[in-house]
Amino acid sequence: MSPAPSKYDSIHVALHWLTAALIIFMLVMGTFSLAETPNSSPDKLFALGGHMILGGTVLVLTIVRLIRLWTRPRPPHAATGNKLLDKLGIGAHHLLYLLILLVAASGIGTALLSGLPGIVFGGNGELPPDFHAYPPRFVHGIATKLLAALVLLHGAGALYHQFVLKDRLFARMWFGRG
Ligand code: HEM
Repeated sequence: MSPAPSKYDSIHVALHWLTAALIIFMLVMGTFSLAETPNSSPDKLFALGGHMILGGTVLVLTIVRLIRLWTRPRPPHAATGNKLLDKLGIGAHHLLYLLILLVAASGIGTALLSGLPGIVFGGNGELPPDFHAYPPRFVHGIATKLLAALVLLHGAGALYHQFVLKDRLFARMWFGRG
């Protein structure tokens, strides 16, 4: 068996930063713009269309990333020298993937139950007065808040490695030979 690589390959690095940018953009826009725009607003259909396309893209990119992670050699989990922190780091990564999948699934659930694909992309019918009439909308709201908290924790952990432990962790998740 070939030894574990010391860094992620370029495709994984590109997928990581692209999904990160999309997720942060969607969390901010979803919370401060989409959810704040009433369904009666003429701007809502366009915003929902963009949100659904970008959300679907995040889901596809995440599934591709997970398949590549499971089927190819990958660098070992980053170590801090503290067993508890190392376990927390591994758990946080698993939870991050799980939450991304839950956010996407609950968004799709809300969209399907409310007939959004037909309304937004096919011009069939009108938006419901409020998406909270559909149970997956509550899951989407809570899961996006948890995801935002975990994205912040994930960033703080990476900065701790880079600037406190000074182990050059960012080089593993960047292009080139590291
Ligand atoms: C995967 C990444 C996604 C992220 C980060 C995300 C983020 C968000 C956020 C932050 C909100 C506002 C939540 C609130 O403040 O309560 C929201 C609302 C919503 N999202 Fe997503 N979402 C994602 C995927 C999707 C997908 C794939 C769909 C559907 C295909 C979708 C459909 C919706 C709908 C229908 C709303 C409700 C808007 C409203 O209440 O006016 N989302 N999303």
